Amino acid sequence: MSAEPLEIHLAAGDVARALREDVRAGLTARPMWLPPKWLYDARGSELFEQITRLPEYYPTRAERAVLVERAARVAELTDAKTLIELGSGSSEKTRLLLDALSRHGTLGTFVPLDVSVSALRQSTADIAAAYPRLRVRGIVGDFTRHLDRLPAGGRRLVAFLGGTVGNLLPAERAAFLAAMRAALETGDWLLLGTDLVKDPAVVVPAYDDAAGVTAEFNRNVLRVLNRELGADFVPEDFAHVAHWDREQEWIEMRLRATRPMRVRVLDLTVDFAAGQELRTEVSAKFRPAGVAAELAAAGFATEACWTDPGGLFGVSLARAE
Ligand code: SAH
Ligand code: AVI
Repeated sequence: MSAEPLEIHLAAGDVARALREDVRAGLTARPMWLPPKWLYDARGSELFEQITRLPEYYPTRAERAVLVERAARVAELTDAKTLIELGSGSSEKTRLLLDALSRHGTLGTFVPLDVSVSALRQSTADIAAAYPRLRVRGIVGDFTRHLDRLPAGGRRLVAFLGGTVGNLLPAERAAFLAAMRAALETGDWLLLGTDLVKDPAVVVPAYDDAAGVTAEFNRNVLRVLNRELGADFVPEDFAHVAHWDREQEWIEMRLRATRPMRVRVLDLTVDFAAGQELRTEVSAKFRPAGVAAELAAAGFATEACWTDPGGLFGVSLARAE
């Protein structure tokens, strides 16, 4: 089967309005911030794929190792008929789940959801070609807003991989998990990938690679603002910063002005002093007990929490209670 036409829950007008609201809120706040979802235009999605192949960026390889080992068990425990994937990107690792569920004989439909139209176009075409018997229904949507639009019924397994849940702030994360539970029926499943707390000497280089790909990914958000809102950022004059916050146990990606700058965006004039920073992403690292507690608070019972042999990354399988 070829992939079905993408279901669009984010019309161009909605996206433009949300971007304007986020930019106004974030650039008038002190310290300044922007939500990470704006990193992922076509170029940002491509840069993220490059990041996943960097020697320093361990999460993708570590999560893949867990899935290689455990995908068959996930299929056995869930008997899933529908696999939904949030923040699906290229759905590269997800093939391990598609293979296992296909072998298990239960899978009929794959529903990847992402804000990035370009990533979704490519992934749905690739997956439909590789799995001709699978129904592939891509959804362009925001997982913080559109969980009530997920297809209902059947035995559902929702995969949220890559550690993307860590890109939500703690309150957003609690709201996301509660909304996720509300969107599911009792007995449906959630497979949640979480990067684990470890030595900052391992974490920081993963977010500040020698080749500078993460720096380009970070600066890309300024290119998005220039293109979409006619802003006049000079991206090259912002330095990439990956800061380990030991209290919060998260990496904060920031852009630091290397000289005083005045930027015009929307009807705002934003003055940057030399050294002033703009937060573009947090990437929280977790402890297995903390993940289980957050899942329980949202109404999920953790069936298993698996890690790779190096103990770098966790994948939790939880049942909606
Ligand atoms: N799951 C993939 C990709 C992770 S990158 C992996 O494990 O490698 C994060 C993905 O989430 C990107 O494809 C990005 O476009 C998407 N994304 C980020 N914020 C989102 C949001 N609020 N709603 C939907 N998708 C989002
Ligand atoms: C998508 N997300 C889990 C990545 C992360 O590791 O937080 C995004 C990323 N940011 C910098 N490098 C990769």
